[in-house]
Amino acid sequence: MIGFIGAGSIGGAVITGLIKNGYDADEIVVKGGHSNRTSLLAEQLGFKVVKKVKQLDDAEVIFIAVGANALESVLTELKEIASDKLIVAFTGSASVALLKQDLGKVKVAHAIPNTPVKVGAGFTGITYSDDFTDEDKKKVASIMGYTGQLVEVPEDQLGIIGTVAGCSPAFLDVFIEALSDAGVKHGLNRKLAYEAAIGMAIGAGKLAKQSDLNVSALKDEVTSPGGSTIRGVAALEEYGFRNAVIKAVDAAEND
Ligand SMILES: NC(=O)c1ccc[n+]([C@@H]2O[C@H](COP(=O)([O-])OP(=O)(O)OC[C@H]3O[C@@H](n4cnc5c(N)ncnc54)[C@H](OP(=O)(O)O)[C@@H]3O)[C@@H](O)[C@H]2O)c1
Repeated sequence: MIGFIGAGSIGGAVITGLIKNGYDADEIVVKGGHSNRTSLLAEQLGFKVVKKVKQLDDAEVIFIAVGANALESVLTELKEIASDKLIVAFTGSASVALLKQDLGKVKVAHAIPNTPVKVGAGFTGITYSDDFTDEDKKKVASIMGYTGQLVEVPEDQLGIIGTVAGCSPAFLDVFIEALSDAGVKHGLNRKLAYEAAIGMAIGAGKLAKQSDLNVSALKDEVTSPGGSTIRGVAALEEYGFRNAVIKAVDAAEND
């Protein structure tokens, strides 16, 4: 049995990814917030909803997916039942030290998933407390594996991983939208333009992951001398595309 506290944007995305990719909904118990958001999701996905944190006592692993403002009160309630469990917090402002401070000797982890977890294609960075055993890590990985990749990172890199993998789906959405605008400008209908741009993004990502070549070499492969692709790449550079992407990450990092 696994438990969730909070099923908003990221909690809901992880739960959806788990169940849609084969995790048994009967093995998931969720304590929701004040709105009917959790029960509406439960109607679609079939997991159990409870009203109190202590009703998650049968869970071996509990995921905290509330925002910073609710974290302290959730940890106070969780402390009563947490001693024999693995606690994984998605809350951005959490840290292993803060979780340890509030929960005592409990094994804790801080993880930052991205929204593609919803379709089993997520990328989640995670930092474990020192007392997590390999067995414990395997247990968490076996759950999060339903939602995509889980990668252990040092905690001081969790923030930038969260930006590069977590904010950038929105950056890529802007790129896809712009590309389809360009397709429409040159005569494609909107539906086909989106299909082409999205299909390209999925395919290029898959190729980049599966190829032995790095992305720079993949670009070199498709830029023939004097050809249309290198002219497009040069235009991207002329208009500061690479710098715009770096500045977007800088902006996301500097709050
Ligand atoms: N969104 C992302 O892509 C993402 C990615 C990685 C990490 N994070 C981090 O995850 C945290 C949550 O973000 P979010 O975008 O999912 O926010 P969100 O959509 O506002 O979801 C938070 C949920 O927590 C619930 N909640 C509040 N108090 C609760 C309580 N005492 N017990 C149980 N549930 C409670 C709320 O339920 P009600 O609405 O029903 O009150 C709400 O649905 C943030 O710290 C964020 O930085 C987000």
